[in-house]
Amino acid sequence: MKTIIRPANPDSIQQATELLREGKLVAIPTETVYGLGADALNPEAVKRIFAAKGRPAHHPLIVHIPDKAALTDWAIEIPEIAWKLAEHFWPGPLTIVLKKHPDVPMEVTGGQNTIALRVPNHPVALNLLKAFGGGIAAPSANRFCRISPTQASHVEVELGDKVDMILDGGACQVGLESTIVDLSGEEIKLLRPGLISKSEIEALLQMKLALPENNEQIHAPGMMEVHYAPDTTTILCTAEQIVNIQKGITFQHQYKLGVIAYFSEIVGDANTQVVTMPKDANAYAHDLYSTLRKLDNPEVDIILVEQPPQTEIWQAVNNRLNKAAKKYTDFESAEKNDSNILADIFYVLATWN
Ligand code: TXA
Ligand code: MG
Repeated sequence: MKTIIRPANPDSIQQATELLREGKLVAIPTETVYGLGADALNPEAVKRIFAAKGRPAHHPLIVHIPDKAALTDWAIEIPEIAWKLAEHFWPGPLTIVLKKHPDVPMEVTGGQNTIALRVPNHPVALNLLKAFGGGIAAPSANRFCRISPTQASHVEVELGDKVDMILDGGACQVGLESTIVDLSGEEIKLLRPGLISKSEIEALLQMKLALPENNEQIHAPGMMEVHYAPDTTTILCTAEQIVNIQKGITFQHQYKLGVIAYFSEIVGDANTQVVTMPKDANAYAHDLYSTLRKLDNPEVDIILVEQPPQTEIWQAVNNRLNKAAKKYTDFESAEKNDSNILADIFYVLATWN
């Protein structure tokens, strides 16, 4: 296959600009994850994003803009707090949802009257946005419900030749998607946790953020129950459970385990590949998706993740892990319904404790 990955430099950025003007798709590096970009004012180009990802058309996209001054091209009735957040956090991993400008095509916003906007903090994305001179609609550059890409090579694996060019800007610094704050309604809501925490935003705005209600999930598909998931079954466990599963299941059933350890020193063996993660939450976030990708391979039957602490600095990591992983209640129903690896694990945990 002809590789479409191009190192980011003035030439490739110029070429990417031309592709965007022709309505083509360009994968772009940002500080959070790679985005699958198209001209946000070209409905046909935007439809190609949905087709490439296999994403339902009613799931809205984020529009990336070059600076906060461009906000008025995309949104109306912009409240003072939006300017304050933009001033403080942009360029950076914060997306704000506002009432949309009437010129923005409904294809971009999934038919909604609101729009999600962000100025990314990555020199390649910013240079491209400046050269292009418009807004770039870009969801994460992965197939629908899969792990977001944090390196150019991940995009190639996810989307292959469905994308016209992949601009390689190196590994993404943050590694998790942006924090999303909805400023379009009466209440200010945190729709998705990220590197910029709820309390940092609350401290800046001097007000409390609300959490979204369950029935609003469709507005933010990132909030769906299963999302960001590897193909390999992934479960969240305590270190003790991991050790018990390792003893019981690899011995009795010859399953191969992938373990993402955090605090405990879990020892690998012929049937167990162990990755020990950084103890710092941001460093862990940076490595999380590439680690899940690495263990999501045919040599691993199940991925066991040692649950990180339940404190605020771990909120974004725990949010993504909860979406990638099955919970203990799933094992119980697995036991009743069918015989599979979860049922075997349930049995092992019940007998080894
Ligand atoms: O870090 C990021 O945000 C990355 C990079 C590429 O910028 N993008 C990203 O896009 O994660 P995506 O499409 O995978 O997730 C976009 C999220 C979804 O949860 C979507 O529902 C929400 O933004 N969103 C977009 N427009 C919205 C709107 N009008 N109202 C509420 N949520 C919206
Ligand atoms: Mg995504």
